[in-house]
Amino acid sequence: MSNMTSAAKAGLEDVVATSSAVCYLDGERGVLAYCGYDIHDLAKSATFEEVCFLLWHRRLPARAELGDLQSQLAAARPLPEPIIRLMRSLPPVDGMDALRTITSALAHYDAEADDMSAQANYRKAVRLTAQTANIVATWGRLRAGGGAIAPDAVMGHAANFLYMLTGKKASPLAVKTFDVALILHADHEFNASTFAARVTAATMSDLHSAIVSAIGALKGPLHGGANEQVMLMVQKIKTPANADAWIRKTLADHGRVMGFGHRVYRVEDPRAKHLHRLAQELGKQAGDTSAVQILDTVVRVVGEQKKIFPNVDLYSGAAYSSMGIATDQFTPIFAMSRIVGWAAHVMEQHANNRLIRPRAEYTGPTHATYIPIDKR
Ligand SMILES: CC(C)(COP(=O)(O)OP(=O)(O)OC[C@H]1O[C@@H](n2cnc3c(N)ncnc32)[C@H](O)[C@@H]1OP(=O)(O)O)[C@@H](O)C(=O)NCCC(=O)NCCS
Repeated sequence: MSNMTSAAKAGLEDVVATSSAVCYLDGERGVLAYCGYDIHDLAKSATFEEVCFLLWHRRLPARAELGDLQSQLAAARPLPEPIIRLMRSLPPVDGMDALRTITSALAHYDAEADDMSAQANYRKAVRLTAQTANIVATWGRLRAGGGAIAPDAVMGHAANFLYMLTGKKASPLAVKTFDVALILHADHEFNASTFAARVTAATMSDLHSAIVSAIGALKGPLHGGANEQVMLMVQKIKTPANADAWIRKTLADHGRVMGFGHRVYRVEDPRAKHLHRLAQELGKQAGDTSAVQILDTVVRVVGEQKKIFPNVDLYSGAAYSSMGIATDQFTPIFAMSRIVGWAAHVMEQHANNRLIRPRAEYTGPTHATYIPIDKR
């Protein structure tokens, strides 16, 4: 019998599970800050590599420190040859399934996989961040029937990813947009995938295992998988003229609209407006703003009828599509950014660890009498 007094909170809503110095979130006011730095300032002025340093060291880097990290990330890009062979041998599975499998396999080729020291975890965080981007780009190419492209050590993280994915040097606007998208996705307090990573890390399991747990959690459409679902919705709506009627019917049928609502934010997700602007700019550059127009109409109707607001997943896909990125790459791209936050949280967990082991309120039968199988 349970000795607990309080009722369980469905989905652990508003439950404070730990203390953390990585990410601040105020759902009432729509504030998001990494280590004290407001997301709007970071989106405007920082680079993704600076944000990596910030989340891992909890302070901004000096110029030389940033240069060191950029070199370490660039040096860690190449994948072990057996990993490329494994990627070629996989069936054409979903990008997140491929990322989960390949990230797990990477541990077998990492000499420090089982070293849980803070220094080794940091080095693995750098390697995994670089390698994940390579995996997502290479998987995208292999899936599309193209050949793998070797990383370019001179390019920054965002530019190199777009180059490895498309085979072409991306425009400055595309690189800047992608870099900002990576910054916006890098951490988000105790979201489901980060929680999964910390639960795994808290058993004193290794960083690769924690990241694999997180990738599995991110894949679901209620979490990172929502960005792909948004673009599938845009494809179904087809034209801006159809959007109003389509979304009214969906809401009348009690459909869940992906890219809206949030467990923590009661106002618009502060990341959404940046992605809206970037999607608009890229759409204009590509000569097609129809996806953003469709989503703007959806926002208006959902806001009027349900009083719920866009989240980070609403406009990211429209921006990625304008860069020629396939829809099934969106969630893996989310993962290649969030891996930075996952690693920061795993390192924080290991620095002051206690096993995470909550309770469940038991609601099943009690005092059942065992009946032998041939008497049931
Ligand atoms: C993010 C999400 C899972 C949060 O869920 P939650 O905190 O458990 O909230 P609930 O599912 O209990 O929803 C609360 C209410 O808002 C409604 N709601 C929430 N999100 C909605 C959405 N996207 N579309 C339609 N209705 C929604 C629910 O129907 C429910 O209404 P009800 O009380 O009348 O039944 C949820 O908003 C959602 O499914 N969003 C779509 C998926 C998505 O974009 N995920 C990415 C999050 S960053």
